[in-house]
Amino acid sequence: MIISFLNQKGGVGKTTLSINVAACLARQGHRVLLIDADKQSSATTWASLREDAPFQVVSMARANMARDALKLAADYTHTIIDGPPHAEEIARSCIVASDFVALPIEPSGLSTWASDLTVRQVREAQEFKPALKCGFVVSRKIGKTVIGRDIRSMAAEAGLPILQTDIEQRVAFAESLTMGQTIFEWAPDSAATQEIDKLTNEIEQHVQEDVLGSAEA
Ligand SMILES: Nc1ncnc2c1ncn2[C@@H]1O[C@H](COP(=O)(O)OP(=O)(O)OP(=O)(O)O)[C@@H](O)[C@H]1O
Ligand SMILES: [Mg+2]
Repeated sequence: MIISFLNQKGGVGKTTLSINVAACLARQGHRVLLIDADKQSSATTWASLREDAPFQVVSMARANMARDALKLAADYTHTIIDGPPHAEEIARSCIVASDFVALPIEPSGLSTWASDLTVRQVREAQEFKPALKCGFVVSRKIGKTVIGRDIRSMAAEAGLPILQTDIEQRVAFAESLTMGQTIFEWAPDSAATQEIDKLTNEIEQHVQEDVLGSAEA
C-alpha cells in the first residue's frame, strides 16, 4: 500500500501527516517505509534528530523516481511518500507510484486549491490508472470556524472526495516535529493522536475497499 501526501502548496501539513501516519501504521505492527520526496528534506532532517525511528526513512527526490519507489516499497507493507511543495515531475512520479493520494488543504477562504495543478495531475493520472484513489484532508483547521465548514462544499465542487477526518491546528503537532518525535511519543492519548488514528484508518479503508472491489470483479 503506497500513500502519498501531496500538494504543490507549501506548509499545508504534508510532512506532519506523513510522519505521523507512518508512525501510526508502525504502531499497528506494520513494516513501514517513509520516502522523503522533497528536496528540502524535512522528513529526513526529522529522522536525523533521533537515534532510530519506528519506520525506515529514505530520501528520494528526483523525477522518474516511481519505479525505484515501487521497488523499495516491495519490502514493506506500507509506504508513505512525503511530497514536495511544487507540482513538477517529482510530484507526478509520487502520484504514479501511489495507491492513494492524500491532498492536505488548509481551510482558507481565499484558497484556489480546487483548481490547483496537483488536483489536475491526480485527475490526469486517474485516466490511465483508474484504481488510483485520492482525497482532500482538511489540515490545520482552526476550531469550528465558518471557513472550516465551507471547505466541504468547495471540495464537493472540485469533484474530488474529501475525507471525514479533519486535522486541527494543534501546537503539539508543531512541537513534536521540531523535537524529532512522533505525535504518539510527544502527546500520547491526546486529541491529536486520535485525529491521526482516525485519518490513518480512513485512508486504509479507502485503499482496502478498492483491493476488495478488484478481487470481486
Ligand atoms: N495540524 C497542525 N497544527 C499545528 N501546526 C502544524 C500542523 N500541521 C503542520 N503544522 C506546522 O506547520 C508547518 C508546516 O507543516 P509541514 O512541514 O508539515 O507542511 P508541508 O506541507 O510539509 O510544508 P512544505 O511544503 O514546506 O514541505 C510546520 O512548522 C508544522 O509544524
Ligand atoms: Mg514538507
